[in-house]
Amino acid sequence: MSLESVVAQSHVIVCCGSGGVGKTTTAAVIALHAALQGRKTVVVTIDPARRLADALGLDGLTNEPAQIPGLPEGSGEMWAMMLDTKATFDGLVRRYASDSKQTEQILENSFYRNISTSLSGTQEYMASEKLYELAIESDYDLVVVDTPPTRNALDFLEAPRRLAKFLDHRIYKVLMLPTRGIVKAVNVAAQTLLRSISKVVGSEVIADAIAFFGAFEGMEQGFKERAAEVDSLLSQPDTAFILIASPHADTMAEAQFFAARLRELKITVRALIINRMQPRFGAISQTNLPNHKPEEFAERYAGTAIGEQYQCLAEAQHLARGEQKHVLGLAQELAPAPVVQVPVQGFEVSNMATLQMLGQAMFDTEVTSEP
Ligand SMILES: Nc1ncnc2c1ncn2[C@@H]1O[C@H](COP(=O)(O)OP(=O)(O)OP(=O)(O)O)[C@@H](O)[C@H]1O
Ligand SMILES: [Mg+2]
Repeated sequence: MSLESVVAQSHVIVCCGSGGVGKTTTAAVIALHAALQGRKTVVVTIDPARRLADALGLDGLTNEPAQIPGLPEGSGEMWAMMLDTKATFDGLVRRYASDSKQTEQILENSFYRNISTSLSGTQEYMASEKLYELAIESDYDLVVVDTPPTRNALDFLEAPRRLAKFLDHRIYKVLMLPTRGIVKAVNVAAQTLLRSISKVVGSEVIADAIAFFGAFEGMEQGFKERAAEVDSLLSQPDTAFILIASPHADTMAEAQFFAARLRELKITVRALIINRMQPRFGAISQTNLPNHKPEEFAERYAGTAIGEQYQCLAEAQHLARGEQKHVLGLAQELAPAPVVQVPVQGFEVSNMATLQMLGQAMFDTEVTSEP
């Protein structure tokens, strides 16, 4: 299996990994590569650097996909968007509210406005919700999703399940009670509970929350069913998770953490991309021959320009060998997933041409972990 075939066989690709390793860039490169091969692709980015929007030839990225201009004749289409958590949540409320009055009540509720932007897990849930909209309700051949730069990024896999659980939770049911016209039935325990929550968060917040859940009435079922569908999309065989890492000891440890979390969630990593590898000058194995050790030449020609060049080569090879060692353990752990080593580029990814060049490096420098 190669990265090329993983991409070719996928309908959804999720790019995950620790902060700054190149998730957003990789997601864009993969979507572009598949579009150049004739597919209709969309990349969902999360908080990308301004440079990526520029590189894609867009003024900005919004919550609705925009088509990337300038793909060569014979290509498919590439679209890009940036996840807007609140706009996505608002869209979900509009979809499940029974009428415009209910929609308005919820959208204007200050408790809602708070949770729709700051409740932990909301961004993750809305990422998976957006993914569902694009993968199931639109006609893209491939949806590539970027993940947020946190260790909790994988929470979005559990977010749908967590939302469903929350809607079944006692607290939620207790909060719903007064609005169901059975105030008398709110027992002493629930009253005490509400009173103690009020003490912590303020009674205004509780009143807002009760009003919110009241307005939310009747929508739980829709939300719950949706959450179950999103959950099942993530476990489809044509949904592929790609782990991105960089070859340094500390970021490899982070990558191991991600790999372990994915294993816990029973998700197979379908490809491992090691980004920003030291370039390898010449075949290292050849220079391992005693007479070809650059260190020896560096010493022999010390103090001359050629001696310094050999010294540079020796140091670069030393770094490259060190990186190979760091990568090996994780590569073996994830076998038979292909391992792709992308060299650090000497240019900024600032336009379509450089995105394509990075694509070439990603899809041409493949090293598989299979024997
Ligand atoms: N192989 C590479 N060679 C050179 N520069 C690279 C390479 N890959 C990515 N970059 C650059 O590294 C920077 C970080 O990449 P990117 O934003 O994709 O990382 P990220 O994992 O999405 O970060 P965050 O976790 O903050 O979201 C960008 O400026 C990008 O252009
Ligand atoms: Mg990013």
